[in-house]
Amino acid sequence: MSKSLCAELGGKPVIESVVHDFYQMVYYDHQLQAYFETTDMDALRAHQTEFLSMVTGGPTDYSGRDMERAHAELDITTQDFELVVSYLERALEQNDISEAHRETILSAVEAYEDAIVSQ
Ligand code: HEM
Repeated sequence: MSKSLCAELGGKPVIESVVHDFYQMVYYDHQLQAYFETTDMDALRAHQTEFLSMVTGGPTDYSGRDMERAHAELDITTQDFELVVSYLERALEQNDISEAHRETILSAVEAYEDAIVSQ
């Protein structure tokens, strides 16, 4: 069996490091802070690690809510979605993920835009 992208990237430890760097940027951005005021960030990091592992081919089971349900009450704008995606891109770069792999991961995540954005 060929290696999944997730395994090729270095598996869970690398995804965890990406997710850590990603939420560091998201959480401290003034434009985004209000969204995360009541969020348990440890739980969010754990679910995001599972989610990104899943969309890159695992093997990992995602145990959080689906994207529509997780973001339904948040009224997320297209602009804020794009800002969050740009931080994910930067976190992938910081963890030395190649451009080809970054593109694959960002396309996989951008496919959820309609489920995540409310307006
Ligand atoms: C870029 C694509 C995105 C992905 C892949 C993503 C993924 C996720 C995942 C996996 C969860 C956990 C769901 C759960 O625990 O059940 C989550 C929750 C959350 N997301 Fe996103 N998300 C994205 C974009 C955004 C954006 C743009 C915002 C706000 C600007 C946002 C704000 C939140 C918040 C606040 C929560 C936690 C909700 C709560 O506390 O219950 N997300 N997201």
